[in-house]
Amino acid sequence: MDRVPVSLKEKSYEVLIAAGLMQNSGDLLAEAISPCRAAIITDDNVAPIYLNTVRGSLEAAGFRTSALVLPHGEKTKCLDSVARIYAFLSESGITRSDALIALGGGVVGDTGGFASATWLRGVRYVQIPTSLLAQVDSSVGGKTAIDLPQGKNLAGAFHQPSLVLCDPAALETLPEHYWLDGLGEVVKYGAILDEALFALLEETADGGRKAVMENMIGILHHCVACKAEIVSRDEHDNGERMLLNFGHTLGHAVEVCQHYEGLSHGMAVAAGMTAITRWSEQQGLTEPGTSARLTALLDRLGLPTALPALDRASMLHAMSRDKKKGSSGSRIVILDRIGQSRVMTVQEDCLEMLLAGLR
Ligand SMILES: NC(=O)c1ccc[n+]([C@@H]2O[C@H](COP(=O)([O-])OP(=O)(O)OC[C@H]3O[C@@H](n4cnc5c(N)ncnc54)[C@H](O)[C@@H]3O)[C@@H](O)[C@H]2O)c1
Ligand SMILES: [Zn+2]
Repeated sequence: MDRVPVSLKEKSYEVLIAAGLMQNSGDLLAEAISPCRAAIITDDNVAPIYLNTVRGSLEAAGFRTSALVLPHGEKTKCLDSVARIYAFLSESGITRSDALIALGGGVVGDTGGFASATWLRGVRYVQIPTSLLAQVDSSVGGKTAIDLPQGKNLAGAFHQPSLVLCDPAALETLPEHYWLDGLGEVVKYGAILDEALFALLEETADGGRKAVMENMIGILHHCVACKAEIVSRDEHDNGERMLLNFGHTLGHAVEVCQHYEGLSHGMAVAAGMTAITRWSEQQGLTEPGTSARLTALLDRLGLPTALPALDRASMLHAMSRDKKKGSSGSRIVILDRIGQSRVMTVQEDCLEMLLAGLR
């Protein structure tokens, strides 16, 4: 089994990666925390496939389980769900010596994580991520949040898990749309921090999902190690975590302008990464050839490589409203070359030129 440590000042934990690990989740959890009540939060797509396995394994290891199945989808990341989870935790008798288990994608992880951060002022929680995005991104780093009518991820807390169990076998049942969504973030890690990962993806890209899956343990290890490294250097998102937003300033703007009904997040990020890199290379800020290499990989993986045609003024508005905006301008992430990136502060006229150059 692969173990990636996440070393933080306040709390350190491990991400365990192995195919079939869900069947053994009880024993693995018992190594990290002693058997207690375990309240499982999951969704109605994941529950029929994986809930019995996880529950059976936890019970066999001495945990007393209860489960709450929420509807799938982003709409579940809301205050009503948190209220439902609180009621469930109360009924399940969850005390501060017990634990909450988030079994599912990023929606379950973020919502369950937020409930665990606030129930009794914080109980332990364990992530068992089942989507690619959750395995490489949302389950590591301790950011939990729900959406409010005023915007996405507006209410949240930093609350680190006690353990993350990452089972690549779960990805076999992940619908193609969400597979591609997660792949966008996988390419991002290679581009910003890890040329070896980028090269591994280049080697496997032509074999389709099957070939990528054959290398999944290695790919997950690279991604989780990248995220763990960045998070350990910037636990509360004051600096270096910003690198994780490569492609996101443009990507978010696309999502906003399409009212979250067009390109999915990972696909919008893929298009954003290509656009920003084409621009930064034209400006002489990025090693020549980087943009071609990035575009070729995304294309071979089936991800978009061009921004959809959208109104430039609306895009600019969305970009300058991005919450990562600094006081002295907007901060964008650019590549020096594949595997190395930096944050750059730009003024609005620069964003305007960037958008103009894309047409
Ligand atoms: N906390 C963080 O640091 C962080 C980082 C990135 C994204 N996020 C959040 O993550 C969320 C997106 O996560 P997501 O893409 O996992 O969405 P999701 O949780 O909605 O999962 C995607 C879909 O796949 C289904 N599913 C998940 N695993 C499955 C499996 N193994 N087999 C079959 N179906 C499966 C789910 O039911 C859902 O329909 C967003 O809300 C985003 O804001 C959080
Ligand atoms: Zn993202």
